[in-house]
Amino acid sequence: MKSWAGLKATDPQQGERDRSVLALMQVLCNSLYHPRVENVSPELTLKILLLTDRDIKPLLEINEVLESVEQAFREKGLGRVQMPAKTYLYYEKYDGDLRVMPAYMESMDVSAVKVVNVHPENRKFKLPTVMAVILLIDPKTGAVQAIMDGTEITAARTGAAGGVATKYLAKDGPCRLGIIGAGVQATKQLAYVHHVRELCEVKVYDLVEEAKLRFVQNARQEYPNLRIVAADSVEDAVQGQDIVCTVTPSRKPIIMDDWIEDGTHINAIGADAPGKEELDPAILKRSKVLIDDWDQAWHSGEINVPASKGLIHRDDIYGELDEIVAGKKKGRTSKKEITVFDSTGLAIQDAVVAKLVHKKATDKKIGTKTELSTLFNETSNHP
Ligand SMILES: NC(=O)c1ccc[n+]([C@@H]2O[C@H](COP(=O)([O-])OP(=O)(O)OC[C@H]3O[C@@H](n4cnc5c(N)ncnc54)[C@H](O)[C@@H]3O)[C@@H](O)[C@H]2O)c1
Repeated sequence: MKSWAGLKATDPQQGERDRSVLALMQVLCNSLYHPRVENVSPELTLKILLLTDRDIKPLLEINEVLESVEQAFREKGLGRVQMPAKTYLYYEKYDGDLRVMPAYMESMDVSAVKVVNVHPENRKFKLPTVMAVILLIDPKTGAVQAIMDGTEITAARTGAAGGVATKYLAKDGPCRLGIIGAGVQATKQLAYVHHVRELCEVKVYDLVEEAKLRFVQNARQEYPNLRIVAADSVEDAVQGQDIVCTVTPSRKPIIMDDWIEDGTHINAIGADAPGKEELDPAILKRSKVLIDDWDQAWHSGEINVPASKGLIHRDDIYGELDEIVAGKKKGRTSKKEITVFDSTGLAIQDAVVAKLVHKKATDKKIGTKTELSTLFNETSNHP
């Protein structure tokens, strides 16, 4: 397997990502120093809404988040989004990384930039593995409209991507669901998959016994009518399931080909950085594989390791999920087909949910308004 350093050195997309960092810095500078625009009230450009996770949590309703994320995929499928691939910093000695994710969706007038980390060892610091902050940008002026917690939004929009993929690709219910990795994203995969498919049983496995049992206990409280079982092994959790969600930071395959039956749909969520993988590549070879974005998936998705070893080629990939959502390609075409959604996480998912949250918070007068600077004051001498 290529090391991260090896991948960085030979990565042909590095130039593109460097350009996207520059573009991002331009957006951020523009938001702070943009000249006063004719007919734009200083109030609109000056005030920034601060939204904490406590403000945001009650605003994230599953049906609305799912609808927004589905719309984001549709817009991408129709070629109407600007979304340079994520830019990564690798904190190798801390087993972590940081990503910057800008997006602009012109037809929806939505733009945002997210900064997000992934540190799988954060549990020992009592911090989540994934934490994020999102800047919502007004495309008209470049001004920052809101600075918001992105941790909750990341989990919700990742759950929603799994929900959208399940809606288009999984068999009709009632379905049995297997979940590997019982952390933050697993909770949301369960919530959104449950929203789009009737479930008859959920089996969960985690390397850490305590995490698995906590997940089962919480899920039983949340879904009292659903049979939720702690599995003894990965094999026990995935064998015979109709839907499987993988949500671990694994760097080697943990789900073997023999365990996956015909007709299964897999949401492969955990692999979102170079070197990460959760599925035996043989599964990908016999499945209809949908990625969320070509550039991101080759670089850091479930296919990144098998692709770098020459085990998977472009021809092995059916397409992007957005093409199915936009009606350009068919989803599941038979009961026997195995389908895999390789999710790396898209900036457009964050942008649409940030916009939704901002609108709801503004309507309900939630959050704190602040002024970071007075640069746009009528009397200011700044350009
Ligand atoms: N695709 C996306 O859009 C997206 C978004 C957010 C996070 N992620 C990725 O999802 C993964 C999980 O994130 P999280 O926030 O839920 O992390 P988390 O730390 O809350 O949960 C991960 C769980 O996986 C378990 N685990 C680790 N290795 C395992 C293994 N080999 N077998 C079984 N269980 C194992 C851990 O014990 C932990 O409980 C990370 O890799 C993260 O980068 C992807």
